[in-house]
Amino acid sequence: TELSHIRNFSIVAHIDHGKSTLADRLIQSTNTVAARDMKAQLLDAMDIERERGITIKANTVRIEYKADDGETYILNLIDTPGHVDFAYEVSRSMRAVEGSLLVVDSTQGVEAQTLANVYQAIDANHEIVPVLNKIDLPAADCARVAEQIEDVIGIDASNALQVSAKSGIGIHETLEAIVTRLPAPKGDVTKPLTAMLVDSWYDAYLGVVVLVRIMDGLLKKGDRVKMMQNGSIHVVDRIGVFRPAMQDVKELGPGEIGFITAQIKQVRDTRVGDTITHEKKGVDKALPGFKPSQPVVFCGLFPVDAAEFEDLRDAIEKLALNDASFSYEMETSAALGFGFRCGFLGLLHLEVIRDRLEREYDIDLITTAPSVIYHVYMRDGSMTELHNPADMPDLTLVDHIEEPRIKATILVPDEYLGDVLKLCQDRRGIQMDLTYAGTRAMVVYDLPLNEVVFDFYDRLKSVTKGYASFDYHLMGYREDALVKMSILVNDEPVDALSMMVHRDRAEMRGRGMVEKLKELIPRHMFKIPIQAAIGGKVIARETLSAMRKDVTAKCYGGDATRKRKLLDKQKAGKKKMRQFGKVDIPQEAFINALKMD
Ligand code: GTP
Repeated sequence: TELSHIRNFSIVAHIDHGKSTLADRLIQSTNTVAARDMKAQLLDAMDIERERGITIKANTVRIEYKADDGETYILNLIDTPGHVDFAYEVSRSMRAVEGSLLVVDSTQGVEAQTLANVYQAIDANHEIVPVLNKIDLPAADCARVAEQIEDVIGIDASNALQVSAKSGIGIHETLEAIVTRLPAPKGDVTKPLTAMLVDSWYDAYLGVVVLVRIMDGLLKKGDRVKMMQNGSIHVVDRIGVFRPAMQDVKELGPGEIGFITAQIKQVRDTRVGDTITHEKKGVDKALPGFKPSQPVVFCGLFPVDAAEFEDLRDAIEKLALNDASFSYEMETSAALGFGFRCGFLGLLHLEVIRDRLEREYDIDLITTAPSVIYHVYMRDGSMTELHNPADMPDLTLVDHIEEPRIKATILVPDEYLGDVLKLCQDRRGIQMDLTYAGTRAMVVYDLPLNEVVFDFYDRLKSVTKGYASFDYHLMGYREDALVKMSILVNDEPVDALSMMVHRDRAEMRGRGMVEKLKELIPRHMFKIPIQAAIGGKVIARETLSAMRKDVTAKCYGGDATRKRKLLDKQKAGKKKMRQFGKVDIPQEAFINALKMD
């Protein structure tokens, strides 16, 4: 296809503003798929994505559109993940296209994720077409939202499109705007092959499928190609485009977006952002800006039932095949036995993986406290990365500890601003900026990541009744007074509950945890001390008193079935518990003990 007849674009939006609905409409109105094949929200393939209403894997579709000028254009839409955890993937897919539709719900306005994603689009030099969606709703206020786009984002919104993705209003105008307002891609077919690896995933039938954007040159079936990151050579055995079903093509040229398969075994060998070229007569300079995404949040995953360890290993290996940003290594815990220390891009990523392990693989899990990576500087001048509080070196050898900090952007209606400021302040935040756009405030905070990984997002949602939106990115490391707090149950340390905390907050957190644990651990036949300690010093203590009565005592005398039932019930209750010394701790205690009220 001629470059002048190609348009490549993505859609940026805050969650729920209608990105998938609009994509479906564009596909449907160009007859890319027959109506009967339209599934609700074609672009979000996975069940979990659909259920949680989030898009995880970048997806793509090629649309043919006959424009009002009589010419037929190829429109390539790359779907980008909407959530902060996947910021790196968003930035890569942005670099594969020349323009963006900025979808903003005209009943809501600009949200934190709108901002984060649109800045990525601006960074990638996109031409941006604002789309005010949901104009069918009575609460739509296009004038206000357009003004807000100009005030907050700083782009011209005077010719924003007014659309209802749901009822089909403005879809034709959107297609025309893509053709007339977005630039055609550039590229040179006579140059050596440069292709960007935009995304890759594992398909049970085809093996690894690689999504590519051709910058220069021509890519054909049978070509021997090189991944520039690791120098590995592969033979292209299939090449095609998504319409959205796979359709083979002979070749892909400059400006085009499509897929290849090449007998690649693991997604790990195909790093997003890598450059693909020909083995012979290829380029020797990769596209700029490649950096593999790094896990930033770590936690331990242990089977509730130790016998399920092998099942857990299999499941984790399978998931990792398809997710290069998920890392794992075996871990043994004195309290929990064998399990895995896993690394994630962020909290949502952690939740998605944990959910899939529990649901798709049916494994009951104990998740230990999420932790960030600390930089521990030793007295001898060396530095170690601490991924697990349980591995904290002897304090006498430690000089100082640095922790990762984030820049968090929160958009919130005026009336909840006070609560949000208090929450950020409580989490050791430093305010960086506070501005207003209409009746909404935009607050920017410098926060320690470790205060955010656990339940910050939940708390934010609850203090603002769901009206705040939140986004963050890592800023770097800073020294602070951090200590390791251990939890002892019946005088035994439970390593899975140990955590790094700020010294000034240790007592409060310790108190909170022992109180929670007292509620969460069932009473036993003996009394159980529950303590929080720093080094050898106990900073908080509760005692769980002993159980007096035999549970079966009240059905003394005959009724054997009732007695059995009661015992069975106890046993079932036990299944989800782990024994620590003589004490049974229920599975949910590990997570709930960490929630702060
Ligand atoms: P993520 O995939 O989670 O990022 O969400 P999204 O931005 O793709 O939003 P989605 O398309 O799933 O739409 C969110 C909700 O808004 C759905 O319930 C849609 O039916 C609804 N919706 C989308 N567009 C319109 C519209 O134009 N009018 C109305 N009334 N509802 C819409």
